[in-house]
Amino acid sequence: MAATSVVVLDRGNNTTCTINLHGKSDCATVVSWRVNNQEQLFVSKQAVFDGKKAIRGGIPIVFPHFGPWSFGPQHGFARIVRWNLEKAPERMASGDVEAIFSTMDSEFTCSMWNYQFRLTYRLILREKELHFNIAVFNASKDLPFSFSTLFHTYFKVPDVRRCQITGLQGCTYIDKTRDGAVYHETRDVVTIGEWTDRIYQSTPQEHIITNVVSGRKMRIQKYNFPDTVIWNPWIEQAKEMSDFGDDEYPNMVCVEAGYVSNPVLLMPGTAFEASQVLQVM
Ligand code: BG6
Repeated sequence: MAATSVVVLDRGNNTTCTINLHGKSDCATVVSWRVNNQEQLFVSKQAVFDGKKAIRGGIPIVFPHFGPWSFGPQHGFARIVRWNLEKAPERMASGDVEAIFSTMDSEFTCSMWNYQFRLTYRLILREKELHFNIAVFNASKDLPFSFSTLFHTYFKVPDVRRCQITGLQGCTYIDKTRDGAVYHETRDVVTIGEWTDRIYQSTPQEHIITNVVSGRKMRIQKYNFPDTVIWNPWIEQAKEMSDFGDDEYPNMVCVEAGYVSNPVLLMPGTAFEASQVLQVM
């Protein structure tokens, strides 16, 4: 296996974003985002970086399928395929730093999902913000395809039981811990005190998580991502995962912006775009 390599966006003032590129499978997963030297993302101490499996933490990209998939791995293949560094980190006039990554169909992806596509994501690192833009292009001349996609963001938190998540009140959610039963969220802030795995539907553009690192708040803004997935495995599910420490669940919460409860239908020769902005408040 080739040596692990990383791409680093450096904004100065100990503010960096690191993307993992490794071995045969350059999966382009963001594995670190430090603001003033403070890490904002959770990566398990037991995460495996062998390119065969998604990295347990950071911000893996889910595509072209969210959840268990009969044609390939859970959450699709974007977390394990080769990505290219399309544009190496470059400082803009504002001082912000930009990098672009891309991947496209290959023999490997066609063996699971026989469509021609191009997937691009652009990262911009600002003083206290990380911007992501994802674009999916249907490269076929005549075949439409449908897909789901999501940013599987693992936030680092000192104690998940003390976090509150705004922006979910009034939304319906599919509770994956209860065989997919559908409920209506009545709470103005959502707290987590047990195994949680929910797809909130038609959520607003903004969520705020309180009590992330150093007791601060994290703002998530999303565009063209109608859904928000909230996930924490809690202790029993944590024990089932070989790449997640049994005692790590209090230190993470996944708040995932996605297009998952209904698929996107993309016509030939057209593109879909969506983005997320993370901001330390
Ligand atoms: C979440 C799903 O997005 O990801 C959960 O809602 C799933 O059901 C979790 O368990 C982790 O998935 P994976 O494939 O990274 O183990």
